Amino acid sequence: MAIANEAKAKGSVIKEFRVNSLKNVKGCQSCYGCKKAGKCVVKDDVSEILDAMREADNIIVATPLYFGHATSQYRTVEDRFFGFLGGDFVPNIDSNKKVAIVVTCGSGLEGAQKTAAEIEGVFAGFFKMNVVGKIVKGGMMAPNAAESDTAVMAEAKAIGQKL
Ligand SMILES: Cc1cc2nc3c(=O)[nH]c(=O)nc-3n(C[C@H](O)[C@H](O)[C@H](O)COP(=O)(O)O)c2cc1C
Repeated sequence: MAIANEAKAKGSVIKEFRVNSLKNVKGCQSCYGCKKAGKCVVKDDVSEILDAMREADNIIVATPLYFGHATSQYRTVEDRFFGFLGGDFVPNIDSNKKVAIVVTCGSGLEGAQKTAAEIEGVFAGFFKMNVVGKIVKGGMMAPNAAESDTAVMAEAKAIGQKL
């Protein structure tokens, strides 16, 4: 949230989504409907996230590390990004967006770095977006641990300034 707060202080309007709070969540059905429709055709609560991502100037994504991977919540939404690739597999989402990535973990920093790089690969590789900052941080076991970490907060502020 600290990245978003900084962007907000600069005048950005923030739309925040927590996948855990959504009731109706479906994974990608591999229906390839998006390749005809130009967007994901599955209609559920994730649709609002995908629409907001299309409209947004910038995107911030965050996930903790679970068993060395992004969480199932994050991955479920990420698979639905398939609708951002057209029938020709060329992005149909504006690539002129800046992206910030946050991956927190208990101790598996190597896994968190790999996960952050994989997420970057999706945004920069597939959608040609500009990843302006990544926060990869271990020792985040307690709820809201990042908020009391001044170094992380400074990092977040600096990334928020770039958005
Ligand atoms: C199911 C589960 C699996 C986890 N797996 C890992 C892991 O593989 N490596 C690691 O360093 N931390 C692991 N953790 C710790 C979380 O990454 C860490 O607590 C996280 O930063 C919590 O973020 P949150 O407060 O936003 O949920 C795991 C935690 C849970 C609940």
